[in-house]
Amino acid sequence: MKPTINIGIIGLGIVGCGALKILQENKNEIALKVGSELRVKRIADLDIERERPVEFDRSILTTDAYEIINDPEIDIVVELIGGVKPAGKFIMDAIKNGKHIVTANKALIAQEGHPLLEEAGNRKQDFFFEASVGGGIPIIRPLKICLAGNKIEQVIGIVNGTTNYILTRMSQDGQDFSDALAEAQRLGYAEADPTNDVEGFDAAYKISILASIAFTSRVDVKGVYHEGITKLTKRDTAYARDLGYCVKLLAIAKRNNGAMEIRVHPAFIPQTHPLASVNDVYNGIFVKGNAVGDVMFYGQGAGAMAAGSAVVGDIIDIARNINCGATGRISCTCFENKAMLSMDDVVTKYYIRMQTADRPKVLASIANIFGDNDVSIASVLQKTRGHNGEAEIVWITHEVKEKNFRTALAAIEKLPVVAQVSNWIRVED
Ligand SMILES: NC(=O)c1ccc[n+]([C@@H]2O[C@H](COP(=O)([O-])OP(=O)(O)OC[C@H]3O[C@@H](n4cnc5c(N)ncnc54)[C@H](OP(=O)(O)O)[C@@H]3O)[C@@H](O)[C@H]2O)c1
Repeated sequence: MKPTINIGIIGLGIVGCGALKILQENKNEIALKVGSELRVKRIADLDIERERPVEFDRSILTTDAYEIINDPEIDIVVELIGGVKPAGKFIMDAIKNGKHIVTANKALIAQEGHPLLEEAGNRKQDFFFEASVGGGIPIIRPLKICLAGNKIEQVIGIVNGTTNYILTRMSQDGQDFSDALAEAQRLGYAEADPTNDVEGFDAAYKISILASIAFTSRVDVKGVYHEGITKLTKRDTAYARDLGYCVKLLAIAKRNNGAMEIRVHPAFIPQTHPLASVNDVYNGIFVKGNAVGDVMFYGQGAGAMAAGSAVVGDIIDIARNINCGATGRISCTCFENKAMLSMDDVVTKYYIRMQTADRPKVLASIANIFGDNDVSIASVLQKTRGHNGEAEIVWITHEVKEKNFRTALAAIEKLPVVAQVSNWIRVED
């Protein structure tokens, strides 16, 4: 047993401060669990002057990450700066210097994680990234360890707290997207530039990571279909509620005839689905294994202490492995290169809202086009709107291939009696 295990943290921002606080506040309990003292020997950040919400010995601060990466006494390097560059190089250099790695960096793991994990694995060094998906929710370790006996059939998650907060406000308070986004920004739940969250990039990174573990395959994140929540209106969330659904930004990964079906988009889900009760900034991840059945993970997907909790859990795991000479036990699990299902071949149901002329045979002319493309209708709702005599028609389809659905929709949009297809959203039961 090493009496002291030395840690270097690169990036003392939100998560860095949370992890440092936990390591300090729970120092004694952690030492008992590990059998060694966990000492933060050095912290690197670009700004070493600003106040932080945690007390610590500021003499350990440096602006040069390489004072950590090249320090022979440091056992574990914790990367918490985010982004691909220079984080990827820092981590690769640290691995080559014999360090074990902890990171919370989903963008890096999803885009360029494979060579880093492989390098660490070849050297029997640990590389953990629990905080990169689901913040404080344990999901990567459960998939890699606790559920390893299963063939994972699907992972469906609400993995972005910002968009879940916006959708909750739209559904529960009848807010428009822009008002709900402004409120999320005011409360610090959304960044000044919310693109990464509201356009689904963040969720795409996270589901790529989960899918690669669940299906033991490499996943090219560039091939993952993602659609954000910006085109949703309060009219759609109100229809969802009236029809017994709620709207969530879902990150979906399914096995599909040997291929992987991975997609991120807003979806109607039944109000009775376990994920329907995941509201505000919370995250929920629903996993189906062929042995265990359904398992659901729920908790805070972001924040200093929640993400810090996952980071410290990783550090403790590595420290224990160091003490019993078992590092590098679980490395990269992407053994295969499975094909990705095209969105054209995805089979799901759809909600469509359209404005049409309010006269006889309109419904029939639209229904005919649906029928010609094998789109069968589960329900239809018609309301007359306003004084211009237009009707608003809402359709819910049965399951159909996306290609057929889109072909039908393109033809319907050209009908003279159809003023506008206002929106369409996938329905996941
Ligand atoms: N925030 C969350 O709730 C959360 C949850 C889960 C995962 N994560 C992930 O955790 C990571 C960190 O996120 P965060 O929210 O803590 O970010 P953050 O608050 O922006 O902190 C990043 C820190 O790293 C510093 N930094 C940037 N480049 C550096 C470099 N080359 N050398 C040394 N320090 C550098 C930044 O300094 P300056 O500010 O001076 O630029 C900043 O203090 C990201 O990968 C993020 O995706 C975050």
